[in-house]
Amino acid sequence: MLDIQHSLAQPDIAAPVAIRRVDYTAPAWLVPTTRLEFTLDPSATRVIATLSVTRNGDHRDPLKLDGAGQRPLSIMVDGVAVNDWHFEGEQLVIPLSGDAHVVETEVEIAPDRNTQLMGLYASGGNLCTQCEAEGFRRITYFPDRPDVLSRYSVRMTADKARFPVLLANGDPVAQGDLADGRHWAEWNDPFPKPSYLFAIVAGDLAVNSGSFTTMSGREVSLGIWVRKAELAKTDHALEALALSMAWDEATYGREYDLDVFNIVAVDDFNFGAMENKGLNIFNSRYILADPDTATDYDYDAIAAVVAHEYFHNWSGNRITCRDWFQLSLKEGFTVYRDQGFSADQGSRAVKRIEDVRGLRASQFPEDSGPLAHPVRPESYQEISNFYTATIYNKGAELIRMMAAILGPKNFRAGTDLYFDRFDGTAATCEDFVASMEEASGIDLTQFRLWYSQAGTPRLSASLSHDPAARRATLTLAQHVPATPGQPDKAPMVLPLAIKLFGADTGTALIDERLVLLDGPGETIRFEGIDERPVLSINRGFSAPVVVESDRSAADLAFLSAHDDDPFARYEAMQQLMLETLVASASTGRAEHDGVIAAVARTLEDPDLDPAFIAEAVMLPSESFIGDQTRIVDPDAIFRARDGLRRDLGTQLERQWRQAHARAGSAPFAYTPEGKGLRRLRSVALAYIMASDAPDAAELALAQFEGADNMTDRQGALTALVSSTAAQRDTALDRFYARYSSNPLVLDKWFQTQAQSSRDDTGTVVAALARHPDFTLTNPNRARALIGAFAANQRAFHAIDGSGYRFLADHLIALDRLNPQTAAKLLPPLGRWRRFDAKRAGLMRAELERILHTPGLSRDMVEQSSKSLE
Ligand code: ARG
Ligand code: ZN
Repeated sequence: MLDIQHSLAQPDIAAPVAIRRVDYTAPAWLVPTTRLEFTLDPSATRVIATLSVTRNGDHRDPLKLDGAGQRPLSIMVDGVAVNDWHFEGEQLVIPLSGDAHVVETEVEIAPDRNTQLMGLYASGGNLCTQCEAEGFRRITYFPDRPDVLSRYSVRMTADKARFPVLLANGDPVAQGDLADGRHWAEWNDPFPKPSYLFAIVAGDLAVNSGSFTTMSGREVSLGIWVRKAELAKTDHALEALALSMAWDEATYGREYDLDVFNIVAVDDFNFGAMENKGLNIFNSRYILADPDTATDYDYDAIAAVVAHEYFHNWSGNRITCRDWFQLSLKEGFTVYRDQGFSADQGSRAVKRIEDVRGLRASQFPEDSGPLAHPVRPESYQEISNFYTATIYNKGAELIRMMAAILGPKNFRAGTDLYFDRFDGTAATCEDFVASMEEASGIDLTQFRLWYSQAGTPRLSASLSHDPAARRATLTLAQHVPATPGQPDKAPMVLPLAIKLFGADTGTALIDERLVLLDGPGETIRFEGIDERPVLSINRGFSAPVVVESDRSAADLAFLSAHDDDPFARYEAMQQLMLETLVASASTGRAEHDGVIAAVARTLEDPDLDPAFIAEAVMLPSESFIGDQTRIVDPDAIFRARDGLRRDLGTQLERQWRQAHARAGSAPFAYTPEGKGLRRLRSVALAYIMASDAPDAAELALAQFEGADNMTDRQGALTALVSSTAAQRDTALDRFYARYSSNPLVLDKWFQTQAQSSRDDTGTVVAALARHPDFTLTNPNRARALIGAFAANQRAFHAIDGSGYRFLADHLIALDRLNPQTAAKLLPPLGRWRRFDAKRAGLMRAELERILHTPGLSRDMVEQSSKSLE
């Protein structure tokens, strides 16, 4: 029993402090083995943790164990109860005299009151865990840091009727029944792992099982665990898992290492999924799919996330991170790996276009705003705030650049060296780069700036031609903008894939080459050039930069029709559209003919893949247009884009109808061809709606009603939701009636309405927030409405400030339940510098109101205070 003074003393929760990368020190104590015994009960779960601990190095420091929220019921050292421990903040400090001891703690926790969804929590009647980054300390006392690797054995005891399935990391060892209606199971994970990879699940679950034979001939049993009623929606995820396992063997030589690999889907989850060793836990939206409820986009995302989490088994689990500043070591690399996997399953070109669009939509704004941070940050207050597009997506671009600089052979030699040398360790970004250098003999000293300097480099490129000298001259200059804490930047290494085309013949004047720009500027001469050259630059988006070139509209139109790199071709069209839109947003008038002609040519090109056409003819988003301007005028941007959409719709109506009809007849099949046609079909439908043709809404409703799959149905709903036609409400009502019992599809119903460009979207969204099906306790639902609304540039930035107030009200409410998910939705308010004085003032006022809310979480304090700076 505990001494009374200890049980009364409340651990004090410290005010936010910055944790700095340079302060890293090795752990004072190691934990070679960990034994956990769970007596599971939703309202009172007992956890006994038995840690073998060994002193690491020559020091007299006590053992410090992280905790959060719980209270110790007992503490024993080497089998004897002790009471000479104390708290430092939320850390439990236990003095230890020798160099090796066994420390046992017992705590009680309440999963059913855990609304943060970190640690052990209840979802849909089942119990599950989420430990990354610092959730394990909410389960038991432990050195909860990624460089303390331990071998875990776990025993779970629970009511058998309520929790018939008991899963944990590693391999199952034994199970049995107890006389009182309870049962137990033991699991053993032979691989030492950090606490953030720990997981258990207890629930009433059914399994879709499969098997995979690894390259060395070992048999692995695969399981996707869901509620019984959802079993029919798990085949796609199971197939994706087997494909991922084969792909990682073929592409990186990496083999799976346990006898079982389980995935569990849960409805309440803070992000996409989690790579716990041998027991991945997923947001159900990244597992469940059938044609009636999931779009092609959902199918693709499921395969990508299943692959991502599986790939972490090597890039994350076998080799983990020394500290959280190294997060991109596993996340950037693993995103790069899952992008490669997806590219190999379908169209490489379309995948690259999608990834770049995602980077520009989420990472570029982050990199140019108050929350900008390097891929390897220097400090943080709350690590959950650093699971960002910079760490993940820009991090993946860094790996891609190194792969381009090294070439495929050297890159593979580099990853082989990295995997072999650091297996079983907690490594750093530096270890990865050094492996690349050592395997290739290529010096990456300057390249390392990509890890330490934040901000998106801007590249200016200008090509001139001297016909008499038969010479073309390319002038390049780079500039890296200032970001918080980094006023001055050194020039980076920019790998730029470049090619020149003849303006008259359309033939290549030089072969594609990779130019490494490593200084502030450079001039490159191309000799023997007779024909006027057109510049194709940053092909394949070889460097994650903003390119400013002086290419004329005619040259961009030329490239959009003739470039042989699909990404560059798409990019030329985007650039052409952007220039038109930015001009018309600032002057109120615009010449649309150039864009219309280029779109017509693309639509009519018989050699193009429909999936590519659909990407190429889509206008840049309102927020991306806004990102090109210094002060964003949301209404002017909306009018400019709407005007161009209308003109494209009207003038190319015949082509849109053809494209729409072309995709119409075939029954659903999830194939690259089927996906491409469906995508083009819905893009075409949206343009037909924009043309205001009298039958447009009827056509959309017909697509909605006749669809044999969610992609077409959702596409029609999206086309209708911005219109004032009566068919809009018909479709929304029928959609609700059909799917109101399916939470993932109901999310689409909320989200689609939040994305509408109608004038009344703010009012509609406010009403939806009071809808009986709306709740802040489910992160998917909160994101579907609140997150989608904040991304709707025109509606969110309503000049009366109603959008800002709505967001702030809901974030304050959500913060009380789930700080991590609330803080993730805050960044749109931090964009105030890019808006006019009136909007900026209103946005700042809401940030201030949030920051001064009593009891605000550390997550929100960090995001809102940094956003105000
Ligand atoms: N490691 C997980 C992944 O595969 C995500 C974990 C996110 N954790 C967090 N605290 N936001 O990407
Ligand atoms: Zn990941």
